[in-house]
Amino acid sequence: MNFYVLTLFPEMILSGLNTSMIGRASEAGILHIEAVDIREYSANKHYKVDDYPYGGGAGMLMQAQPVYDAWQSVTERIGKKPRCVYVTPRGETFRQEKAREFALEEDMIFLCGHYEGIDERVLEEVVTDYVSIGDYVLTGGELPAMVMIDAIARMIPGVLGNGASAQSESFEGNLLEYPQYSRPEEWRGRKVPPVLLSGHHKNIEAWRRQQSILMTKKYRPDLLKGAELTEREQNWLKEIERTEQNSQKEAELTEQNLQKEAERTEQNLLKGETE
Ligand code: ADE
Repeated sequence: MNFYVLTLFPEMILSGLNTSMIGRASEAGILHIEAVDIREYSANKHYKVDDYPYGGGAGMLMQAQPVYDAWQSVTERIGKKPRCVYVTPRGETFRQEKAREFALEEDMIFLCGHYEGIDERVLEEVVTDYVSIGDYVLTGGELPAMVMIDAIARMIPGVLGNGASAQSESFEGNLLEYPQYSRPEEWRGRKVPPVLLSGHHKNIEAWRRQQSILMTKKYRPDLLKGAELTEREQNWLKEIERTEQNSQKEAELTEQNLQKEAERTEQNLLKGETE
């Protein structure tokens, strides 16, 4: 898959994505990641790419022309107009599902903004997708673009060394990953769950599935609604919830009883003082 990143900071993209798994996949020719320096397309002899916003206001805007020319340099060279993502807090939030969808593309362009944004006219001209990495504002689009490229690239066959690992992970089937343990068997008094040492693969698989469901319930209960659970698993979850509610009720009753007991003691003490 080919990624073209239109940016004012190409070295940031290259240093961020040239290491680890993504770097190795690029070396192996599975990925092609190119940072296109927007500044090189400035029509200005001082390589200026920003100007004041019409109507006033704080900060500077990236101008339409260098952004458009950088985009056109890519589309003309590759002979097609691939999806062009503008990374921006105004966009739809990036999720695993979106990563999977983008991973089906052969080419993608990412446009990284800086300063107070980019002239709206060039966005209307080139952008196909507005995508955010979350409800917070960063100083530029490079980090979000790198986050998205990493998540997309690892879905591509051959990028992760072990072919299975992109499947059995967090968010597959809307469940989080089960907890994992490595040597030693005991660390600071904490033991590895015995089932994992049993060598009984069926039991291990069943335990991991249960743990995935429990982890999701604990850390991301919002995901459970969309999780693919069997009827048996749903019933098991309901049973756990019932038990939890009962122990909560019991705890509340104990608390109320303790409170009453304390009040009675206090009243008795007061009575004793006045007698
Ligand atoms: N640019 C600045 N903040 C961003 C965010 N949260 N997501 C995507 N692009 C951004």
